[in-house]
Amino acid sequence: MNIIQLIEKKRDKKPLTEDEISWFVAALCSDKIPDYQVSALLMAICINGMNDDETAVLTRCMAQSGDMIDMSFIDGVTVDKHSSGGVGDKISLICAPMAAACGLPVAKMSGRGLGFSGGTIDKLESIPGFRTSISQEEFRRFVSRDGIALMSQTKNVAPADKRLYALRDVTGTVPSIPLIASSIMSKKLACGCDAIVLDVKYGSGAFMKTAEQAVELAVLMESIGRKNGREVTALITNMEQPLGNAVGNALEVKEAIQTLKGEGPADVTELSYIISSFMLTAGKKAPDLHTARRMLENSVKSGAALEKLRRLISNQGGDTSVIDHPEQLKAAPVIKTVLSPESGVITGINGEITGNACLTLKVGRLSKTDEIDHSTGFVLLAKAGNKVEKGQPIAQIHSDSEEAALSAEKQLLSAYTFGQEYAPKPLLAAYIDKEGIHYDKNSH
Ligand code: URA
Repeated sequence: MNIIQLIEKKRDKKPLTEDEISWFVAALCSDKIPDYQVSALLMAICINGMNDDETAVLTRCMAQSGDMIDMSFIDGVTVDKHSSGGVGDKISLICAPMAAACGLPVAKMSGRGLGFSGGTIDKLESIPGFRTSISQEEFRRFVSRDGIALMSQTKNVAPADKRLYALRDVTGTVPSIPLIASSIMSKKLACGCDAIVLDVKYGSGAFMKTAEQAVELAVLMESIGRKNGREVTALITNMEQPLGNAVGNALEVKEAIQTLKGEGPADVTELSYIISSFMLTAGKKAPDLHTARRMLENSVKSGAALEKLRRLISNQGGDTSVIDHPEQLKAAPVIKTVLSPESGVITGINGEITGNACLTLKVGRLSKTDEIDHSTGFVLLAKAGNKVEKGQPIAQIHSDSEEAALSAEKQLLSAYTFGQEYAPKPLLAAYIDKEGIHYDKNSH
């Protein structure tokens, strides 16, 4: 077997066998194939696709290329939650303590943000002292004792994906549904949970721009999970505008704390309840979504969810005083108010433009080695559907300098559109599980 034969097969639209895929991943991980040949194969896959069986095999081989985390120390069904990435997406920070407060053990590994999309680990690191690189022993101890731990993915989770993703990033081969699905699911399989709740976002602030593309990706990820013995529920959720009001690491932690106190923005609160309800039913902690929702609402009302967050922060060395005094999170030196350039109804806030404007403020990174600023970002004071007057404050920019604030203001204003009316779309468009696609009755 050699790599040229594999490239030629994919060029000619023929499926690769299990042996060929497994040989390729092994050769890739032992550095036996030069970048130009891996890139040629990636481009052939990007153009000609892969069938569901090829994709499931590629995913399993990538997962097995590194550590396979053993979660068997947890009793019952273990559940992972993963978002395909979006702007202002702080939902994991809310779902994890809420679900843990309802008795679901949360043992979560998360990633950092790249490009316009943020990452849970960066957000948590805006809490002074919080350690995201805890040992496996601590991870197990915290989950066994307190039902919650959140750590950064160990270096050796799916190393084949790391090599492939780095090449996809520079060869125009990121937007391939089989490659995205195998990349996400290889890490999920390696992280060892029995059930996986995926939040597959669509819209201007997501990788998938349309609901149809998101459904295609979700259906494929469910099938990969099933073929590898995992139960996957994939929710198709709307990311037409940034989620919530805050975009930026410390600003989003503040908003997550508000939400756990029952005082969060409506969209963040609703989506957190939706996703956590699916987590509780997947983990057999609630018999149905309706009961799950009541349990979660009670966990917020009683303060139990907030107490789980406090426990998570204190276990991992963070300063818990940020819960009662979120103003103690690092604040940016410059706060600039953005005024509406027009009177009318806000008809959209483009998520990708907002996310890219954040890069000017160093909220996220363009390359993996970039330093980020935890204090900066945006607070959106008016969102799609709000009626505003010309000159009315519509956003705040939190920045480390006046120049960066001015540049971010220009970009942020280009994300806003104004008109006469706005027709909101439901947060949850559909969900996919082993039984097929279930469309939300409000969305069709
Ligand atoms: N997230 C991933 O982990 N991989 C992709 O290819 C895209 C999004």
